[in-house]
Amino acid sequence: MNFDKPITIALSKGRIFEQTMPLLAHAGIEPQDDPETSRKLILKTNHGNVKLLIIRATDVPTYVQWGAADMGVAGKDVLLEHGGEGLYEPLDLNIARCRLMVAGAEGASLDGDRLRIATKYVNSARRHFAARGQQVEIIKLYGSMELAPLVGLSDLIVDLVESGNTLKANGLRPLEHITDISSRLIVNKASWKMKHTLVARFLETLREAVSKEK
Ligand code: PRP
Repeated sequence: MNFDKPITIALSKGRIFEQTMPLLAHAGIEPQDDPETSRKLILKTNHGNVKLLIIRATDVPTYVQWGAADMGVAGKDVLLEHGGEGLYEPLDLNIARCRLMVAGAEGASLDGDRLRIATKYVNSARRHFAARGQQVEIIKLYGSMELAPLVGLSDLIVDLVESGNTLKANGLRPLEHITDISSRLIVNKASWKMKHTLVARFLETLREAVSKEK
């Protein structure tokens, strides 16, 4: 693909980076550094006009919303918490797939009054229990949610489950499926307008790459 305008794409390292690279390769984009070994936060690519920003997964929508990046790759879990203001979400990349679930210890129940729910996904958890008609107390954590019910911090957790191994290793079990999660291409609303031809072409190229990978 020909990039006749500067384009900045924000994404996080790890699984999202690894699974996004084959899709970008389809558009002819190859990064010149590996974020796992380099400490650079701005990666050049083989296209002078295309840069990659390496940032925390939860910060990706913020960079795109404010136009510091034209586009980004963000998990639906992160987008549900962010709210999606200032950005479009035109393509499900079908990568980094997992499920957002309610889980608890053996014998724990979903029913009850004023259950305490430990989670990083405060908005999704609140919405989910509101839809069940339950008032719950949400305890915000930043990781290792599985620990909370084991030490009496919470009754239940809301967390991502992929293989289920982390739950099992900690004696927890899934109780309810909230939603399927995958990573999405997000686009800044102004970039969508100002660089429309380029962004639309890039989007179509990625769409093809996604359907090939399926
Ligand atoms: C995620 C998630 C679970 C685990 C699920 O954690 O929060 O802990 O992966 O995967 P599994 O079902 O295959 O075991 P991650 O390693 O991303 O770190 P986090 O605790 O900071 O969210």
